[in-house]
Amino acid sequence: MPGDPFTTHTINVLHLLLPAGERWFVHVYKQVLPLIRDERLREDVIGFIGQEAMHSQAHDEVLPHLRELGLDPTPYTAQVDWFFEKLLGDRTLPPGRARKWWLLERVAIIAAIEHYTAFLGNWVLNAEELDRRGADPTMLDLLRWHGAEEVEHRSVAFDLFMHVDGSYRRRARTWATAFAALMFLWQRGARFFMANDPTLVDAHASFKDFYVAGRRGTLPATGDMLRSIPRYLSRAYHPSQEGSTEQAVAYLASSPAALAAEKRAE
Ligand SMILES: [Fe+2]
Ligand SMILES: [Fe+2]
Repeated sequence: MPGDPFTTHTINVLHLLLPAGERWFVHVYKQVLPLIRDERLREDVIGFIGQEAMHSQAHDEVLPHLRELGLDPTPYTAQVDWFFEKLLGDRTLPPGRARKWWLLERVAIIAAIEHYTAFLGNWVLNAEELDRRGADPTMLDLLRWHGAEEVEHRSVAFDLFMHVDGSYRRRARTWATAFAALMFLWQRGARFFMANDPTLVDAHASFKDFYVAGRRGTLPATGDMLRSIPRYLSRAYHPSQEGSTEQAVAYLASSPAALAAEKRAE
C-alpha cells in the first residue's frame, strides 16, 4: 500500500501466519478423515485440504520478496511455527479418549479460525479502498484469490466439527482460544514488521492505528470484527450465512492467481 506502512505490514503478517496455520489444518484433518461417516463431507474435506495446501505454498512465495526488502521474518515465523507445531501439535497421548479429545479440540479450533478466514476473505473481496489507494495488484490478487477460496469453502470446517462432535461448550471454548491466539499473533507480527522495516524510523503499531485503518477501509473495521463474535457464538450459526459464494466464484473465474493455481494443480 503506497504510503501506508501500517496497513501494508498488518496485511503482510497474513503471509507468515496463514501458511503455518494452513499446514497445521492439513496435518490435523488427515487424522480426522477416518472419523468421517459421510461421503460428501469426506469429499469436501479432501477438497479443503487441497485448497489450504495450495494457499500455504502461495504465501510462502512472498517470503523471499520480504527478504529482498531487508525484512527477514524468521524471528517471527519461528514463534508462529512453535505455536502451531508444538503448542497445537500432536501430543504424546495414549490411543483412546485423551487422544480423541485433543483431536476434537483442534477440529473445533479450526472451525473457529475458519470463521475468521471467511470473514477476512469476504472483507478483502469487498475492500475497494485497497484498489482506490493503489495497492499492489499482484499482492491484492493473491489475497483475493485466497479470500475467495476461503469464502467458497467456509462451511467445510464447521460442518466437519458438527459431524464429529458439535458440542456447544467446545465451540465456545475453542472460539476463545482461536480468537485470542489470532489477535495475539497478528498484533505481534504487525509490531515485528513495523519495528524491523529498514525503511522506517521509529515506527510502531498500535490498536489505534488498526482502528483508524478500519474506519478508512484499508483494514477490517473493528466494529465488524466485534459483531462477528456473537454470530459465531449463536446457536443458530452456520457459515453459509456469511459472505457470498457467487461473488467468490465470480472472482475465481477471472483472477490471474486463481488461473495460475489451476494450471499448477494440473
Ligand atoms: Fe486458506
Ligand atoms: Fe480455509
